[in-house]
Amino acid sequence: MNALTLSLDPKISPLYLRIADAFRQAVKSGNLVVGESLPSSRRLANELNTNRHTVMAALQELVAQGWVESLERKGYRVATTLPIDESHRVSERTAQAPQAFQWSIPPNIAALKPELPAHEHEFNFAGGMPDISLFPFDELKSYIRDTLSRPDTRDLNYGNHQGNRSFIQQAETYLRRVRGVTEKELLVVNGSQEALYLVAQVLLQPGDKVAVEALGYRPAWDAFRTTGAELVGIRQHEKGIDVDHLERLFATEPVKLIYLTPLHQYPTTITLPIHERMAIYRLAAKHNVAIIEDDYDHEFHYDSQPLTPMAADDPHGLVIYLSTFSKILFPGCRIGLMAVDKTLMPYLLNFRRLMNHKPNFLLQDALGRWMKEGGFERHLRKTTRRYHQRRDHLVSLISQLKQRGLPIDCQVPSGGMALWLDIKQGARSLQDYCRKRDIYLVAEQQFHLTPEHNQDRFIRLGYAGMTEERLSLGLASIARFWPTPAWKPKSSAGELQ
Ligand SMILES: Cc1ncc(COP(=O)(O)O)c(C=O)c1O
Repeated sequence: MNALTLSLDPKISPLYLRIADAFRQAVKSGNLVVGESLPSSRRLANELNTNRHTVMAALQELVAQGWVESLERKGYRVATTLPIDESHRVSERTAQAPQAFQWSIPPNIAALKPELPAHEHEFNFAGGMPDISLFPFDELKSYIRDTLSRPDTRDLNYGNHQGNRSFIQQAETYLRRVRGVTEKELLVVNGSQEALYLVAQVLLQPGDKVAVEALGYRPAWDAFRTTGAELVGIRQHEKGIDVDHLERLFATEPVKLIYLTPLHQYPTTITLPIHERMAIYRLAAKHNVAIIEDDYDHEFHYDSQPLTPMAADDPHGLVIYLSTFSKILFPGCRIGLMAVDKTLMPYLLNFRRLMNHKPNFLLQDALGRWMKEGGFERHLRKTTRRYHQRRDHLVSLISQLKQRGLPIDCQVPSGGMALWLDIKQGARSLQDYCRKRDIYLVAEQQFHLTPEHNQDRFIRLGYAGMTEERLSLGLASIARFWPTPAWKPKSSAGELQ
């Protein structure tokens, strides 16, 4: 064996690993064959211009990794256990031409689609985007520092799958005071999406029926479907859910679970009237059906104090309440809350242990400290004020466009972060037009459980994440879809040059 055929990669250090790698490459390329003896360590050290100690370290590394065998009093040779191909070369490949591995993916998983990266667009009208620039990072930084100086070491270990104790305490106080949710136990989750997946895994079996809003939140549907459950759409009308239809569904289908966004319906933004929320609750109790109430952006309510969720009045303990910090803070924080009856909690905890044991405790701890000092609610008040102004601004721009004869209209939502805009026809074409101009918005068809029900007339326009000026500029670009004279918004914040 000629040591000079070794090709040493200067990027690898220290030297003994570089030498070991060179041997490995020599074996793979066939310069060294299975069973071939290696030169003595003295000779190798000489040829590689290094000391024997380094060469011995390299050889021991190769032995430990299984590439080389050490024979008593005979030195070293290429391991005879390595797989060889038809040309007697060591090969990790099979004898045939290499073929891409064929994954066998179940159809419900194969049907999942990648998410479109909304924030990479120049104008992002995605429905649930908060304005991250409003977040007081400096303020939180001091609480993160506190957390790291005095961490609760009990929680840095395995165990306690529920969440950081002091954060849960603050979150309980917040949910009790602001959302009226009491009598429930809290589980901290990595965002509501984890909660949806967790509930699906714990409650559903193949063939179970889940009733969902016919226009609704696809990521929740996808989570339910991973269990083999089937979705049935609850009809909607301009005031929300068709409760009579839900009653008929209960009579004809073995519904196990209902998933609802009752306070700001996703995507239509409609608030389901209290009497209908109560009627749905009574039906669910009668038929022993659990309700997932996804309260994803209800903190932002402008026309009154935020309405109380169904979970606030749940004598049967059947409502599984979800709340997320993705909208109040930012989606990347991956913190959400699940408030459930204590009888359900043990099952969720047992399953959560299989998924990821527990959420990251450090950020929760810092958030708990921030909440305790009032920072969280201060930030919430500030963002609510801003988003309220932005809603009013966008609504006023839309009414200007309407007055100019554009076929566009919307009901003013009482809260939330988005409008459901009625453009009468061509919603899909408008979406395509916008994507080509680097504007992100989503047309109605994407929200339908049953694609045939698409009227192709609505688009969802998020307004929370952009300043008034950006909203004006973005809407002016969208408005060019319709062949009308160039439009200049009247509002001062939206003055175009
Ligand atoms: C209906 C609905 N639920 C939940 C969420 C939040 O999900 P997560 O907490 O996983 O970020 C969103 C975000 O867009 C949503 O629109």
